[in-house]
Amino acid sequence: MTVTDFEGRPAEVNEYHVDWDVSAAEKGGYDYFMLKEIAEQPRAVADTLLGRIGTDGRLHLDEMRIADRELREVDKVVIVACGTANHAGMIAKYAIEHWAGLPCEVELAHEFRYRDAILSPTTLVIAISQSGETMDTLMAVRHAREQKAKLLAVCNVNGSTLPRECDGVLYTHAGPEIAVASTKAFLTQLVAVYLIALYLAQVRGTKWGDEVFAMIQLLERMPEKVDKVLETMEPVRELARSLANERCVLFLGRHVGFPVALEGALKLKELAYMHAEGFAAGELKHGPIALIEEGLPVVVIVPPRARDVLHDKIVSNIQEIRARGARTIVIAEEGDESVEPYADTLIRLPAVPTLLQPLVATVPLQVFACELATAKGHDVDQPRNLAKSVTVE
Ligand code: M6R
Repeated sequence: MTVTDFEGRPAEVNEYHVDWDVSAAEKGGYDYFMLKEIAEQPRAVADTLLGRIGTDGRLHLDEMRIADRELREVDKVVIVACGTANHAGMIAKYAIEHWAGLPCEVELAHEFRYRDAILSPTTLVIAISQSGETMDTLMAVRHAREQKAKLLAVCNVNGSTLPRECDGVLYTHAGPEIAVASTKAFLTQLVAVYLIALYLAQVRGTKWGDEVFAMIQLLERMPEKVDKVLETMEPVRELARSLANERCVLFLGRHVGFPVALEGALKLKELAYMHAEGFAAGELKHGPIALIEEGLPVVVIVPPRARDVLHDKIVSNIQEIRARGARTIVIAEEGDESVEPYADTLIRLPAVPTLLQPLVATVPLQVFACELATAKGHDVDQPRNLAKSVTVE
């Protein structure tokens, strides 16, 4: 094969290894690609972690290409992304601030480029995109480049535009994602941003080596936890079918559960064409609680009990909305009995650390939206008005 430019001159090509085969782009017996991609998540999460942990127990991010010395000079992180990738960015903020002790802003890429963001050579801009071709995200990166920020891509598509325009990249290795609704790409973006946060902590010395290694070990156990969630999804499917005629569903979360709530609402909007909103539970009393009426389904993501302050606050939020007639669908870790009296439906998650909970808490929301949309007769792989990759502004 010869690759040329439009004048027929041989073009310079970079070779890279495509680590998936044609079966990865087939439905493999599933009715929809989305169902297959949801099922592939344990494997995808494991693949994102593959080859990143050295025999010394330290993280090695081969394609980071930003020198440790420069990472030590970073004084601010700005994350730009759209849609689901932006929700991954919102979760990254918690991890980066907690582990690496760096201030972190998260911005919708299309908003970022039209404001006067203060960037400098010591700002690390992380652009998250499954496709690597989202025009809004590319334009945000170009805007940041003009201001000499360091640019790091989190991307699933090898050789796409975004990683080529950034200084470094962390590929998510999720394999091809064909359904328009992002599922395995999201979970693997989460793993990638956790790795970046831990890498920053390692390089900058904000966490000891053994602390970083302990977190990596917990991350390595996540594929089995995601698998466990997938095995228990039948009641979620039943619930979704029973709600197919509802007009609206609300989602509530706190801390990293808030972006999970936004993601649950986005999945329902794009697949079931239903009105769905995600809120930070603490915001309820500042307005959204007025929406609660008799029988309104409200999905609540409950943080692990170990985060007692957060946990207790959300339990009282559940009580508040139930007292006003909401039908509460509570997603909580196994063994959490405190939520039982207030849950009309209870969905159990395996126990995991708070920061990693989005990896398991998002899965029931994907299954819920997919099943509800299917019950309504929608094509979940190709929802109306949407494209997989938004290559226009
Ligand atoms: O390819 P990208 O990750 O840049 O795409 C960003 C969004 O368009 C995308 O995540 C979109 O929100 C999904 N379809 C949601 O499921």
